[in-house]
Formats: sequence, structure tokens, C-alpha cells
Amino acid sequence: MKKVFVKSYGCQMNVYDAERMADMLATEGYSETKAMEEADLVILNTCHIREKAAEKVYSELGRVRELKQEREAAGQETRIVVAGCVAQAEGKEILRRQPAVDVVVGPQNYHRLPDLLKKSRSERLVDTEFPIEDKFDHLPAPSKAKTISRGVSAFLTIQEGCDKFCTFCVVPYTRGAEVSRPVARILDEAHRLADAGVRELTLIGQNVNAYHGEGPDGAVWSLGRLLRRLAEVPGIARLRYTTSHPRDMDEELIAAHGDLPALMPYLHLPVQSGSDRILDAMNRKHTGDEYRRLIERIRKVQPDLALSSDFIVGFPGETDQDFEDTMRLVADIGFASSFSFKYSPRPGTPAAEMGEQVAEAVKAERLSRLQNLLETQRQAFNHGTVGQTLDVLLEKPGRHPGQIAGKSPYLQAVQFESDVHRIGEIVTVRIVRAGSNSLFGEWVKPGDRAAA
Ligand code: 5AD
Ligand code: SF4
Repeated sequence: MKKVFVKSYGCQMNVYDAERMADMLATEGYSETKAMEEADLVILNTCHIREKAAEKVYSELGRVRELKQEREAAGQETRIVVAGCVAQAEGKEILRRQPAVDVVVGPQNYHRLPDLLKKSRSERLVDTEFPIEDKFDHLPAPSKAKTISRGVSAFLTIQEGCDKFCTFCVVPYTRGAEVSRPVARILDEAHRLADAGVRELTLIGQNVNAYHGEGPDGAVWSLGRLLRRLAEVPGIARLRYTTSHPRDMDEELIAAHGDLPALMPYLHLPVQSGSDRILDAMNRKHTGDEYRRLIERIRKVQPDLALSSDFIVGFPGETDQDFEDTMRLVADIGFASSFSFKYSPRPGTPAAEMGEQVAEAVKAERLSRLQNLLETQRQAFNHGTVGQTLDVLLEKPGRHPGQIAGKSPYLQAVQFESDVHRIGEIVTVRIVRAGSNSLFGEWVKPGDRAAA
């Protein structure tokens, strides 16, 4: 049997796409391997969001090329595919920079991979034109055994692309316009996942809360409505969605946070900056105060809500005062966890052409201050759960024998001693200690609850 090695960079969309590629190649006789050295086919599923991520691909390709040569000397063939957003953005340039690459395929075209692999025997190929057909109609579902092996928490792509055109971001160019999958397809996939033991679904999309898919009734469904329907799928106990734009938090979605117990009280809602001037230059179309008020509205219906966000420091023109506005917003809101980045100019985006690019040293200093504050907030949030009882979805054996590990509603890793529980159960755990990356707890037996 031939072997395929897929390496994914970047966001959860890529993780999902990598799984779908592996599922499709399984029907072509490829089994997945975690060891690149033994792979007949190596796929790098790439990310273009920041320069560092994009450059990583070329250094990794250098290593894959060496491997290809070594295997060739031993009489074994290795084929190399570059997929994902660097493929989409750079296309032919990749073939030019790295002669060992056989196929370059974009995120909307990878359903054609088997065909491309056959055709590329005679010439190296690039396929990045946005296709008319929907790749999801052409992608086979994985076997039940495969789905079971992937665990009790699964990603499900419901939306792709973005129409927001934030001035720093390549996504609208690499992933194209917003497209929502029809409700019926999503439900089919959710049922299939639930039948294989999946308990938690994370709905993913580049701008997932802009979801506007065709419902079975012919009407356009919003994300709030879709979540309500998914909560009825037997077996599915937890729902999440990521990643979202503040402008797309509509009434129906906010209401779902209040009255849908399966919807976890943890929301990734990137704000990027706390300065109105910078938010405007970023084309975010909201102010810092509008974000604050939005959070208040969601917290009103869901007081347990914990938040996470993305931040960019050193966007062109960002002054010390703008940066202080970001620090103040972070202090005002309080985030349970966050991602923060130095602004990285991306070719073809408006911000890359703006004057007043911020010096690297200033970016580094701001990032370090912001990250200190965010880390303090993360630790405070984690320590704040000590003494609380949290529902934990069990995902895998713990680090030590006799331990079992899972996730809290707030996506915190939780470990506790148990030899009676099984993966996939949701267990009430009293948190007794917060480590730097995990919480430690003890099982609260149903009868002990009142005494607790
Ligand atoms: N530079 C730095 N960070 C960026 N992001 C997107 N584009 C850029 C860029 N050019 C960040 C944003 C986004 C996250 C996925 O990546 O914060 O929310
Ligand atoms: Fe990029 Fe997100 Fe803005 Fe869309 S909403 S352009 S994906 S940062």
C-alpha cells in the first residue's frame, strides 16, 4: 500500500482540509503515515497569513527535496504536493523556486488531487483557478473507523472564504468569496460524525458567523438557526464555532448563547485592536466601544461567557496612544486566552502599501507588553476556576497511568484520576489546582454534588 504524509500549517480550516485530503486519498489506495521518510506522497498544506508562515514552506520543501533524492537513490519514488493558501497565492512561483514539487493545488481544488497526481506524471501542474463545482460534492467521507480514531471532538467546515476585506488580510484573496454549505449537507456530516462517537462539534469557517446557508425549507439560515438544529442531533453534546467577526454577531446568534445549553460559553471573537483610528484603517467597520457593548450584550444572556481574541500590533500608523488603547480594551474586557501577532505586510493587501510602517523593534516591544498582559489574564482565568465544578468532555488517557484528560467548557485541558470513566463521557470535575497549561481536578460523583 502506498503511503501519504500530510503536514498542515496555520488554522483549523487547514486541519480539516488535510483530513479530507487523506480521506480522499484513502480511496485511491494511500494509507496515512506520520513518518515523512516512508511517504510515497508528501503534502504540505500551507498557510499564507503571515510572512513567517509562508517562508516556512520553502525551508520545509528544501528538506522534502533531500528526502526525495535519498529515496530516489534507494529506488523509491516520492511525489510532492503543495496545497493550501501559499499554493493559492503563489501558484507557479512555487514550481520555479522548488523544482522537486510535482503539484500545486489551491484550497478549493484539492478534490481533483487524484487526477492531478496522474496527469503530473508528464508535466508539473498548478491548479488554483476557483472551480465552479463544489469540492465537498466530490470528497468521499472517511470510514467510521477513521472517524473514531480522530476522537470525540471534531471540526466541521460550514463556511469558507471571506468578504470582509480587512486591509491586512490575505484570506479574501486566497480563500475567495464567502460561501456557505447547505444545511442538509452539514446535518448529514454531523450525523455521520455523531454515529462514530463524536460528542463535540466545532463549526469552522474563515468568517463562520457570516454563515447564510440554504435551509431544507428553502429559506436562508443564519448560524444561530443552524446551531439550534445541530443541538438536536443525537449524541452531540457540545457546539462551538470559530472564527467570527464582531459585525456578524446577529440577534439570533446572541440569543443562542443564552438559551442553547450545548453552545459552550467560550467565544473566539477577534477584535485586532482597541484603537478606533486603527480599527478604521483596518476596515473592521466597528469601534472599540461597539465591541465592548457587543460583549456586554452577549454576557447579559450568558454571564459565564469567556472570551478569546486575536490582536495585531504595529499595524501601519499605530502610535503609542493607539497601542495604549488596545491595552486598555484588553484590561476592560478580560480575555481567557488570545493570539497576538506583529503586523506582517502581505503582498496584494492594502495595508502593505500604506505609509508609516512601524519599526520592527517597536512592534516587538508592543507585542511583548501585550502578551504579558494577555498571559496574566489567561493565568488569572485558569486560577479562577479552582474550586469550581466544571463539566469535562473526556478525550484521551492522561499523562500518567490512571489519569484521564479532557476539556472544560472553556477549552481548558483538565486532568483527573479515574479508572471508571470512558473517552466521550462528560464528567463533573471539581478543579483543585491550576498548572500553567492544564487544570487538575477530582471527579464529583453524582451523589456528592450537594455536599460539594
Ligand atoms: N499580519 C499579522 N497578523 C495577521 N493576521 C491576519 N493577517 C495578518 C497580518 N498581515 C492575524 C489576525 C487574524 C489572525 C488569524 O491572524 O489577527 O485574526
Ligand atoms: Fe481576514 Fe478575518 Fe478580516 Fe476576513 S474577517 S479579511 S478572514 S481578518
